[in-house]
Amino acid sequence: MTEDGVGARLQPGTGTVSIGEVLRLSTEHLAAKGSDTPRLDAERLLAKAIGLERIELYTAFDRPLTQPELAAARELVARRARREPLQYVLGEWGFRHLTLTVDRRALIPRPETEILVERALALVAGLERPRVLDVGTGSGAIALAIADERPGAVVTGLDSSEDALGLAAENVARTGLAVELAVHDLFEGLPDGPWDLVVSNPPYVDAADLAGLQPEVREWEPHGALSAEGAVEAVARGAVAVLAPGGALVVEVGAGQTDATAALFHELGFAEVRMTRDLAGHDRVVEGRRT
Ligand SMILES: C[S@@+](CC[C@H](N)C(=O)[O-])C[C@H]1O[C@@H](n2cnc3c(N)ncnc32)[C@H](O)[C@@H]1O
Repeated sequence: MTEDGVGARLQPGTGTVSIGEVLRLSTEHLAAKGSDTPRLDAERLLAKAIGLERIELYTAFDRPLTQPELAAARELVARRARREPLQYVLGEWGFRHLTLTVDRRALIPRPETEILVERALALVAGLERPRVLDVGTGSGAIALAIADERPGAVVTGLDSSEDALGLAAENVARTGLAVELAVHDLFEGLPDGPWDLVVSNPPYVDAADLAGLQPEVREWEPHGALSAEGAVEAVARGAVAVLAPGGALVVEVGAGQTDATAALFHELGFAEVRMTRDLAGHDRVVEGRRT
């Protein structure tokens, strides 16, 4: 295997190689470079490189790749081998019912955040035109999913990162959903509402824990999206001031931070404080209603 790519057999110009063989070599290479999901990565990257659905690879195992296809596959696998997240290499990722553009400008939307969206939708059930504020919108994932799944919702996403908002704007255009975007620093309070729902997946990783994260996260995702001391508390305090009476706040926090967050919600006068678990069974989402 060569250092920088998928190996000598995959170098353009060295004879034909089949889809099955590329998958085998790519999987071995990515496993050696530390990917937790080398086969899945190899399939998704090859499918993208040659313009097939992943499932179609299986009915074309013996088909030889053309030289341009091989070169494209090699480049994508080389990127992933440098531990660039699969999502960034693919350039798009699914969140709820949407496919969103993802790149280094913002955090990759996570499966646990889909649960946050579920709770957000439940909290505005029954309102005809709920006014929703997504604090730290990043790629726009939460705001867009709510706009998509809750017709009638009037949704604003804010972020302090111009880069993230640029990506969110591309996702607004890509999905055609009506979400307003604003530059705003959550540490300066939240924009005047009144809002029926404030939803947030704020940066909640302890700065001391950043060094221990997987290279995909530590070296590729924006640190300002991962960690900002006091962000959860700032969102909660800000929400009290701008929520309509009966309006709800729902936040995602780190596993292990939910008890302190629920205590803060009680201290701030929220009622109906409740926690929801993620798919791994950890309490992850905390919600409450302004009385
Ligand atoms: C954990 S990411 C969440 C992104 C997206 N909502 C999601 O769930 O995939 C946190 C977001 O908060 C933003 N952020 C960090 N500090 C902020 C601040 N002081 N004010 C507003 N947004 C901030 C980051 O730029 C980032 O987009």
